[in-house]
Amino acid sequence: MDLETEDSALQVLMDGDIDKVMSGLDRIIEAAPSYEKLFMRWQRQHWSTEDFDFTEDARQWNDPDLISDEERRFMLFGFSQFFLGEERVTVELLPFAMGAPSLEAQAFLTTQISDEAKHMVFFDRFYREVLGVEAADIGSMLDSQRIHVNKDWETLFDGILHDCAERLRLDPTDFPALVRGITVYMIVIEGTLALTGARFLIKSLKEREWLPGFTAGFTAVNRDESRHVGFGVKFLADAIKDDPANARIVEETLQECLPIASLVFVPSWVEDPYNFQTPFYHSSEIFEYAMKALSKKLAAMGLDPAMLAGEAA
Ligand SMILES: [Fe+2]
Ligand SMILES: [Fe+2]
Repeated sequence: MDLETEDSALQVLMDGDIDKVMSGLDRIIEAAPSYEKLFMRWQRQHWSTEDFDFTEDARQWNDPDLISDEERRFMLFGFSQFFLGEERVTVELLPFAMGAPSLEAQAFLTTQISDEAKHMVFFDRFYREVLGVEAADIGSMLDSQRIHVNKDWETLFDGILHDCAERLRLDPTDFPALVRGITVYMIVIEGTLALTGARFLIKSLKEREWLPGFTAGFTAVNRDESRHVGFGVKFLADAIKDDPANARIVEETLQECLPIASLVFVPSWVEDPYNFQTPFYHSSEIFEYAMKALSKKLAAMGLDPAMLAGEAA
């Protein structure tokens, strides 16, 4: 891949439209930019949690004629899974940075730690200024929103992701643990769940012209996410090229995660977790989009997406 193509693939990361961000990600994973290039892009892509005006968002959120209780309940479920997820990935990424095999990869991961912290602070501000939740600090804010996340979210973040980070914390030289961890973090959590969930949430809000400050900020969050996924795909593609045994680790990790991961999309109150309607879309749409998103990443790593047959919902 020549440098010009690499640069033009990264250029799309500046876009403000979520579907362009998503198709831009497809081009990034194909171009597989180096860690240095991804670092340069991070330097040019700064934004601040203070950039967004939440006045209209707060007015809309408090208007019962505009947003129904059903819509509000569903959005609160989605917002909280993202908010709490941002806190988990901020803290759990530290051991990954210790275990990364080169200074270039480590330098990129330190930028990602600061991104994830920024995402968490963005959500904290949104909860205070738009949703009107009061809390003494970010920790108590997060504690107060834990009731909204589902059991499968807890299994994935508090169980599997935490276990990956703990293994790396105990032994940063454990490369198989890093391959498993990056599969869970960048491929399953960010590349399959977060970007898919965000795409549906942002599209739904845009169509209704709801929460414009949040929509703009959350689009910036997801431009960051696509850079993070670009790192994960590059890391795993190289690892698999170096040693085919790493392909087996990726495959086993997906087998472990996918039955749980698809259920992270499911609100706890629905009857059938594999077939339900939300106020904004049907479950089949989001499941299908997520599987396609994952397949593209596997193909870019040199794996056969057919391995997913029978794994997911
Ligand atoms: Fe994030
Ligand atoms: Fe991220």
